[in-house]
Amino acid sequence: MSDNKSFDRDSISNTLTIAIGLSLICSVLVASAAIVLKPKQLKNQEEYRQRIILEVAGLMEPEGDIAALFATIQPDAVEIANGESVEIYLEKSGDSIKQIILPISGPGLWSTMRGYLALAPDGNTVKGIRFYEHAETPGLGDQIDKADWRNLWVGKQLYGDDSTPRIEVVRGFALRDSTNANLQYQIDGLSGATLTGNGVTKLVQHWIGPEGFGPYLETYR
Ligand SMILES: Cc1cc2nc3c(=O)[nH]c(=O)nc-3n(C[C@H](O)[C@H](O)[C@H](O)COP(=O)(O)O)c2cc1C
Repeated sequence: MSDNKSFDRDSISNTLTIAIGLSLICSVLVASAAIVLKPKQLKNQEEYRQRIILEVAGLMEPEGDIAALFATIQPDAVEIANGESVEIYLEKSGDSIKQIILPISGPGLWSTMRGYLALAPDGNTVKGIRFYEHAETPGLGDQIDKADWRNLWVGKQLYGDDSTPRIEVVRGFALRDSTNANLQYQIDGLSGATLTGNGVTKLVQHWIGPEGFGPYLETYR
């Protein structure tokens, strides 16, 4: 009887002690896991970014060693109009440049879309485009990163004869019209996702324009 009185398992203080103790143990475990896993997460993120750059440049090999392949691409820095230094990548063969890979980003319908644009050394012909981060709707806006749509960009021209950005995603039948003189600048729009497509047009035109890499690309043309 006296034992029961001195130790009541279900007392409020015991319940609170156990609850607080368990919470503390769990929070320490979760915090430790986050700290321990952070470097691995950062490494995976960086590896993913490198893979995207290799893919947009057509340099990714099945089962290839990403770090080794990425080492063949040379980073460079371009100062844009607002004074910011932006990292770009160059695929080189000896001294000659084979591809220019530029980071691009801007608003879609729901999200900021981030990706890379690969260009031929003429600073004008698209070799590839890839978005690696966005939150556009699956089945609608997320078509921006489907191979079928990305492939429509290959060979398109960024600039008109007057050096202004001309590349655009267009809706409708323009692309089926063989008399259309602007085919080299136009990419077929995304069905049901015109707003995301318009976002892509705007962000690409921004980054190849005077506030982005326009002056830098001019040196190649
Ligand atoms: C739930 C929901 C999600 C949508 N997601 C997208 C999207 O990710 N990108 C987009 O451009 N339009 C999206 N839309 C459609 C747009 O509101 C708009 O109707 C569409 O962009 C127009 O394109 P269309 O003229 O080719 O149909 C979404 C609509 C709904 C109801």
